[in-house]
Amino acid sequence: MIGRAQSRRADRRSRALRHRRGRATSIAMAIQAPILTEQVPPPIPVFGSANGSSKHGTGSRNRPINSLELVDGIAAVHEHCAVYTGPEAVDIVLDLVGWTVDGIDANARLLEPACGDGSFLLPAIARLIDWSSANPYADLAPMIRAYEFDARTIDQVRRKINALLRDHGRDAKTACELTESWVRCEDFLLATPDFAATQVVGNPPYMRWSLVPPTMRSAYEAKLPVAAARGDLCLAFIWKATEFAPNFGSRIGFLCADRWLRCAYGQNARAALKASHGLKTHIEVHGLPVFKGARKVGAYAAVTVLERGTSDVATRFGKATSLTHLRELATSATSGGRKHPTIWQTSSKGGARLAVPAVRALLDAIERKAPCLAEVGVAVRCGTALGLAKAFVLDADHGIEHDRALPYLRSRDLDDAGGFVSSTYVANVWTAEGGLLDLSSAPALAAHLEGNRERLEQRACVSGNGDWYRTIDKLHPDRVAAPKILIAGMAQRARISFDPGGHVASNALYCLTSTDWPLQALMAILKAGIVDLFGEVVSPRFSGGTKRFDGNVLRQVRLPKWSSLSTALRRRVEAHDATSGHDPVLVADLYGLRSSAQRTTLERTLASTLDASTSLGNRT
Ligand SMILES: C[S@@+](CC[C@H](N)C(=O)[O-])C[C@H]1O[C@@H](n2cnc3c(N)ncnc32)[C@H](O)[C@@H]1O
Repeated sequence: MIGRAQSRRADRRSRALRHRRGRATSIAMAIQAPILTEQVPPPIPVFGSANGSSKHGTGSRNRPINSLELVDGIAAVHEHCAVYTGPEAVDIVLDLVGWTVDGIDANARLLEPACGDGSFLLPAIARLIDWSSANPYADLAPMIRAYEFDARTIDQVRRKINALLRDHGRDAKTACELTESWVRCEDFLLATPDFAATQVVGNPPYMRWSLVPPTMRSAYEAKLPVAAARGDLCLAFIWKATEFAPNFGSRIGFLCADRWLRCAYGQNARAALKASHGLKTHIEVHGLPVFKGARKVGAYAAVTVLERGTSDVATRFGKATSLTHLRELATSATSGGRKHPTIWQTSSKGGARLAVPAVRALLDAIERKAPCLAEVGVAVRCGTALGLAKAFVLDADHGIEHDRALPYLRSRDLDDAGGFVSSTYVANVWTAEGGLLDLSSAPALAAHLEGNRERLEQRACVSGNGDWYRTIDKLHPDRVAAPKILIAGMAQRARISFDPGGHVASNALYCLTSTDWPLQALMAILKAGIVDLFGEVVSPRFSGGTKRFDGNVLRQVRLPKWSSLSTALRRRVEAHDATSGHDPVLVADLYGLRSSAQRTTLERTLASTLDASTSLGNRT
């Protein structure tokens, strides 16, 4: 996997290099260019001149950015995220924010922060032109603002807008002036919010923050608050869009990955946005053909509408199963159809509750009845990060000193029945006292590590004080020896196994130990459906229906104290066969859920985790 990802990145880099010459105009246009003219790059762009102080200590914030770095950066971001929106989804988002012929008035201002090929922009302009036929004297120039930092793309969009205006009877001069006033070849994340949008629409770029070219990342980090400059670019766009839509009632309608609403990285941004915005509509469109072209989009997309104003506004929530269903859900949202309580996060911890009301109510009821894992003596810890698997993970015929090779477990070693097969070892470079091993005491291990020395020395965890062969995390003998429950960090359904002790867990696994619950009983009840229940609502989703069961998710799981259970219930939990799958009745009894509606919701939710094709959204 890593090899493929690296080679993809290398491919991208070399393609970007090949495009340098062709894209040289981007440099000037990133500052801002008039319509359809050839640009000469200025000596040093102002890209990196942000005034904020360093938040992450990169130290490169105010360094002038080399022109080619910028050209390469724009090319790399554009290539990564140029996935355009299909016409059905565009129409729906424009309707949801009220950019309709009936909804537009002379004060309306539409922003498209990353217009790409104009998928949103051109239909939005078409609606504005229709509106203007009844309002011929309105000044259209200030009514639209669009950004796109890829020069070739923006050139094409300008031509299309021009053609659209000419087709609708505007003379060449007017068409040219309107186009120029509407479209900017500029980096939206660095732009000054000098436009007060009433509506913002688009499909903001989705790119993991760590993949954004470093020079651009530094410039963004200098301009944006820490809460927004992390996770993925989409979060930064949402944040910046709110700066461009400062007035009460302004709406932001984005087709974007819903990860920012669930993941820990979005926590502070969510809390801040919740204070100023209501989450009006959230319709999941996972797996629907809402994008143009055949390019596969791994992120779980949703149509999300935020409105500046009261935060506890009722949310219209749904899971669309087809484009027709998406249209129905959107129509019901705009026509005052069924509202659901807000799905913004209910506490400072945890993500938004992206589930139908019955499921959210169920989780609320469970949270009122049972504390979180930490409060019942269950510790959740991530496994051991090694920092170069090639050097530290060994096959059975490893040839190093036996007391230096510890059995190793990765996600793929766990099975759904609760067992595991351990076939690899990890090279232990730590002493029992916690110090780094003197390699002269283990010559075979030393020879093996020497063979990987060059790459080992390049790692960020190496201080240069002779610790080139350290693993990122220390290996604690007591943690290795301890019996523990192991949960795969990424899986379609919770994959949970029991290690009686002696294994090193990889950092793709989460380890649970307990001072209150007997581990076998804890394992049984977790496998009876508790982890899947919480995962269904709070886990971030990835392509292929994979969910993340990381520390952030697991720490939201609720459980009563073992000591608070009746003897009969304890016996039932202990008797639950962990290999037999979910037991909704046992889970409902554990939480003391008496209402049949709650018990039915629990049963259906657990059933839906077994069959990805079952959509609870159909039952709203
Ligand atoms: C996902 S595409 C979406 C395009 C269009 N909004 C749509 O829905 O079809 C994102 C576009 O944003 C542009 N982009 C990425 N980062 C940008 C930035 N910081 N400023 C302006 N444009 C950016 C990319 O070049 C790409 O064309």
